[in-house]
Amino acid sequence: MSAQNQIRRMTAPQITARKGGDPVVCLTAYDAPTAAIVDEFCDLILVGDSLGMVVHGLTSTVGVTLEMMILHGQAVMRASRKALVVVDLPFGSYEDSVETAFRNASRVMIETGCQAVKIESGSYAAETISYLVERGIPVMSHVGLRPQSMHVFGGFKARGRSTDIADEILANAKAASEAGSFAVVVEGVSEALANEVTAAVDIPTIGIGASAQCDGQILVTPDMLGQFDRVPKFVKKYGNQMDATRDAVAKYTEEVKARSFPGSDNLYHFKKPAT
Ligand code: KIV
Repeated sequence: MSAQNQIRRMTAPQITARKGGDPVVCLTAYDAPTAAIVDEFCDLILVGDSLGMVVHGLTSTVGVTLEMMILHGQAVMRASRKALVVVDLPFGSYEDSVETAFRNASRVMIETGCQAVKIESGSYAAETISYLVERGIPVMSHVGLRPQSMHVFGGFKARGRSTDIADEILANAKAASEAGSFAVVVEGVSEALANEVTAAVDIPTIGIGASAQCDGQILVTPDMLGQFDRVPKFVKKYGNQMDATRDAVAKYTEEVKARSFPGSDNLYHFKKPAT
């Protein structure tokens, strides 16, 4: 293997060591071409179950299966070399018992080659986290707005803007940290709460709709690339892929109708016989 193609990935302990240091740069990826680009820049790539919505057109992440996560996880692993790759455990694959969680998390790691899993961490999660970590599976936790619980929360609204829920989110984050998570995603909470969580836990907080003072940030890549008209308030669009795609498809349609595509450059011709 050439030096250029060498695989040397960031590790979970290296991410943990960034607590209070240089911000941890994270994005999601679900396919090989995107993973190859994201890998050039990011410390951590999340194969998020957001893929259910942004790739498969589901209305929530609840319908995402383990098989979907594995397929996309394999694509991302094939195309990345530097970043730590974390794959989400989907709804229903880890909540009922520590044994189920281990069986499914180990399957994800074996079949994708990823280095860690993420679980949405309610008050039930601490036992699962320590069970997985003790058995060799690094875990990233996820507190605050937990999309897999959208039916309980009544939608995808920001959480932790009242003190009782804020206390619960803080307690979940502390429990996840004490149970051995190597980092915790803090999603859709007030800036003040995100800062409080960041000060209270020993592991890096990775914010999404949280605070610039978190130890790192993550966004859903198709959202930040501008693939969708409507995105949550916390998303900043760094590109406009929707317009770029529409313009390209419109131009192609025009040229096909005008018979100006394919042009001479795009066609094969008889080779001149060798003399
Ligand atoms: O599924 C996902 O992409 C996520 C991020 C929003 C953190 O969990």
